[in-house]
Amino acid sequence: MAEARAVLVTGSTGGIGRATVGLLRRRDFIVYAGARRRADFGPGVHVVPLDVTNPESVAAAAKRVAAEVDRLWAVINNAGVIVQGPLELIPVDEWRRQLEVNTLGPASVIREFLPLLRPGGRIVNVGAPTGRVAMPLLAALSASKAGLEAMSNALRLELAPWKIPVVLIEPGTTRTEIFARAGAAADAAMQHADPARVRLYRAHLTAYEKAMARFEPGPVDKVAEAIVRAVEARRPKRRYAVAEARMLGGILPKLPAGLRDRILTNAVGLNGIEP
Ligand SMILES: NC(=O)c1ccc[n+]([C@@H]2O[C@H](COP(=O)([O-])OP(=O)(O)OC[C@H]3O[C@@H](n4cnc5c(N)ncnc54)[C@H](OP(=O)(O)O)[C@@H]3O)[C@@H](O)[C@H]2O)c1
Repeated sequence: MAEARAVLVTGSTGGIGRATVGLLRRRDFIVYAGARRRADFGPGVHVVPLDVTNPESVAAAAKRVAAEVDRLWAVINNAGVIVQGPLELIPVDEWRRQLEVNTLGPASVIREFLPLLRPGGRIVNVGAPTGRVAMPLLAALSASKAGLEAMSNALRLELAPWKIPVVLIEPGTTRTEIFARAGAAADAAMQHADPARVRLYRAHLTAYEKAMARFEPGPVDKVAEAIVRAVEARRPKRRYAVAEARMLGGILPKLPAGLRDRILTNAVGLNGIEP
């Protein structure tokens, strides 16, 4: 059995996942890269088929890794999607997909991989500022990341007897395909929505698009560096916030609710919308 430090990264084919895999490899970790599709990361990276929403896939991935190493240094729950749009227009299947990938998926991965983590591993969950500050038109995403945050906080206490740290990473807006994918999924879902109900939200949707266009996304490297800091720290912090996530998650939750609501309404451009 190999003894070098081995880590699992889920969602390794995406922007943050790929950057994290590359950085971990450069830091001499043996990397198990969970992927739903074919991928090649070069030497030292083992691609493991892994769909986090499929319990059989998760169990098979854990079995495969356990056959090759007797312990894992870290599991990094990075796979994620954004389901966006007004709650009234999001089909229930899309809500289910959001929660299954972002919340239930990590729970399932953690459950299956815990035996490999018990000898001294750690769990690193990639959350989002929406886990602490729910955003309008991102109710599904916010619920999924708040769920991930709550789970991480509860799990940290449950696993304390084994000294297994549970860390949350909060990226700021980061340049990846996640937004284009979310837009395409929302457009597809909207095709099936009642046009009269879609019309009710025209101004919301236009304002949201404008607000998103104002964001200047940051590089994936900053997030990958934060993840690797959490993986390597002797005593990792509970949370690593990157870029504007520090302000969003650190300050907004402490404001009076009325003021916070006004700031978020203005930020997304929903102020002044009449029915
Ligand atoms: N980008 C941002 O601004 C931002 C901000 C805050 C938080 N985050 C979080 O950062 C993480 C990574 O996001 P990203 O921006 O790198 O997005 P991305 O480029 O779209 O990558 C998402 C990754 O998740 C994988 N994935 C989706 N569904 C999956 C499933 N059922 N099973 C396994 N893997 C699945 C995708 O695989 P496929 O390639 O097969 O689809 C892809 O590898 C997510 O948790 C996201 O919520 C991102």
